[in-house]
Amino acid sequence: MIKGPPPTDIFPRGGSPSVFRYMSALPVRGEPVSLGEGGTPLLASRRIGPSFGLRDLYIKNEGQNPTGSFKDRGMAVAVTAARRSGARVLVCASTGNTSASLAAYASRAGLESAVVIPDGKVAQGKLTQAVAYGAKVVRVAGGFDDALKMTLRLVARSRVFYPVNSINPYRIEGQKTVSLEVYEQLGRKVPDYVVLPVGNAGNISAVWKGFRELKAWGVADGLPRLVGVQAAGAAPIAEAYSKGLGSVRPWENPETVASAIRIGNPVSWKKAQAAVRESGGMVVAVEDREIVRAREEMSRKEGVFVEAASAAPVAALKLLDGMIPKDSTVVCIATGTGLKDQEAVDWKMDSMPLASDDDSLARLLSP
Ligand code: F0G
Repeated sequence: MIKGPPPTDIFPRGGSPSVFRYMSALPVRGEPVSLGEGGTPLLASRRIGPSFGLRDLYIKNEGQNPTGSFKDRGMAVAVTAARRSGARVLVCASTGNTSASLAAYASRAGLESAVVIPDGKVAQGKLTQAVAYGAKVVRVAGGFDDALKMTLRLVARSRVFYPVNSINPYRIEGQKTVSLEVYEQLGRKVPDYVVLPVGNAGNISAVWKGFRELKAWGVADGLPRLVGVQAAGAAPIAEAYSKGLGSVRPWENPETVASAIRIGNPVSWKKAQAAVRESGGMVVAVEDREIVRAREEMSRKEGVFVEAASAAPVAALKLLDGMIPKDSTVVCIATGTGLKDQEAVDWKMDSMPLASDDDSLARLLSP
């Protein structure tokens, strides 16, 4: 259900693109807690799209948000609401990006942050951020699903903690702005397909909410099909989709290189299923080797360096070949930067040649 009357001035004239540009469509008031989130580039693919015969493939580069992922959209709105409600300590469980984002926005708001992470399963750069922004970081044994369960029990036990996982409705509100932004960037046009990685499944429901509201408000006249992409080793929603099951069976020990979406028991699976069903879309699974290949292609053919999870949509294009009409407008959401996840890129400093003088430099670099 869309609550309240349609906002009056969804796309204000002028002003720079950002999450709070869409203030009238957000359920928060007052001074925003902002680090300049949103307004990320929608890049027309130069090489990957044409290699599939797709004329209108776009990459929405959410890695250019302040802490390097789409999480900043939802966090800005959630922390704005949290500060107004008098919250003091904000808490989340995370595969990394949410914790980095929470820690940054809590600092910006003058609040404390606490993050619970699965031990040994979070990319180094994401942890570096959480520590740098001053979060209290606690590791727990097990995977993300265990960390989230413990965090929710902690929140139930003590009112000191304000939860900002994607079950927090303000997170979803902030994340829905990516749909409004894509619509504007395409020249007020709804794409035919939006392809995005799915972990805990908050984001796919947020993206759907954005487009559904645009239509309900009488702004847009169509809706996109949503394609959710999971890693084959962590694919409970894709499994339910492919078997035509009405409910999602949790996976015990999810495993994938895409650590951000290494999730076996997605909290928002019902919303994801509804979004996919209502949009006439689908949920697919891609193998790790395809994710790694897509990540490399995005860097080398498009100049967009993403983390593994964020390459899953491009990896899925191969599966979608033949299912998507070639003249479709397709938007792949690149959810996070590759800079946090460097250990996943195969290179070694000692394999890089060292130039000792001008001659050796010229020799080493000659084409
Ligand atoms: N892509 C990236 C880079 C992510 O970090 C996540 C989720 C997703 C996609 C999937 O989004 O969970 O809403 O379906 N990361 C969470 C975290 C779980 O803790 O940072 P989702």
